[in-house]
Amino acid sequence: MALETALLAVDDLKASYNHAITALDGVSFNLARGEILALLGANGAGKTTTLKALSNLLPAERGQVVSGSIRFDGLDVVRTSPAALVRAGLVQVLEGRHCFRSLTVEENLVSGGLGRGSTRAQIAEDIEKVYARFPRLKEKRRAFSGLTSGGEQQMTAIGRALMSRPRLLVLDEPSMGLAPIVVQDIFRTLRLLNREEGLSILLAEQNSAVALKYAHRAIILENGVTVLAAEAHDLRGRDDIKSFYLGQRAVAPSIPAVAG
Ligand SMILES: Nc1ncnc2c1ncn2[C@@H]1O[C@H](COP(=O)(O)OP(=O)(O)OP(=O)(O)O)[C@@H](O)[C@H]1O
Ligand SMILES: [Mg+2]
Repeated sequence: MALETALLAVDDLKASYNHAITALDGVSFNLARGEILALLGANGAGKTTTLKALSNLLPAERGQVVSGSIRFDGLDVVRTSPAALVRAGLVQVLEGRHCFRSLTVEENLVSGGLGRGSTRAQIAEDIEKVYARFPRLKEKRRAFSGLTSGGEQQMTAIGRALMSRPRLLVLDEPSMGLAPIVVQDIFRTLRLLNREEGLSILLAEQNSAVALKYAHRAIILENGVTVLAAEAHDLRGRDDIKSFYLGQRAVAPSIPAVAG
């Protein structure tokens, strides 16, 4: 891939926690504008650490980038604050569908628009766009997020991220703990956002089946090292690769979503 088309370029990234535990030991990949890229790997492979590094969130976890580089649209991520990265269009939905549980769905969405200093009119417009993508959220707009289902909370977390008008949306395990039908619904919406609005997407998944169904390309991490990069369609159905690199949970068991 030509470098000038890369929206995100990660080069030989090494990172550790507490200046002791090596979590990443050579992660390299590019993400092109308009691409959906899946980051796959077994438990502890370094997916979350990679994503946190992209948003410069490792220092908050007593973690640090030891060497290598991350460039987002020309910005040196390691020297850019998490808030400035959001304003630049790199927005992350952390693992575990974080919502403000005691705020309503709509208040959660509003909170997503405040970070980038949107006006009231822009926020209202963006909320309607989110509701058009996730009609469930419109139905639940006045419900406290803590009382909505796991799928609705994930949609709220994604909707809140969309309120920041991202150019690159980063998602950590969006399928986790959700029923298969809800997972498909969420991934279909992500694909529409990609196709119709050109949103670039990077997602870490244990659920390689769903990730490979929707991604254009995938990279595989093993023990903090990128070991494989391939077109998603070349990896679909390659059970040998999945079982070798992704361990027993190549297809994550689906656990019924529980609010709370
Ligand atoms: N806050 C932390 N402090 C210390 N070590 C950590 C921390 N977070 C992760 N690690 C370690 O870093 C390595 C990579 O973990 P990471 O969470 O990035 O993997 P992952 O691929 O996201 O795994 P999972 O699929 O279980 O979410 C692991 O060895 C893990 O134990
Ligand atoms: Mg993780």
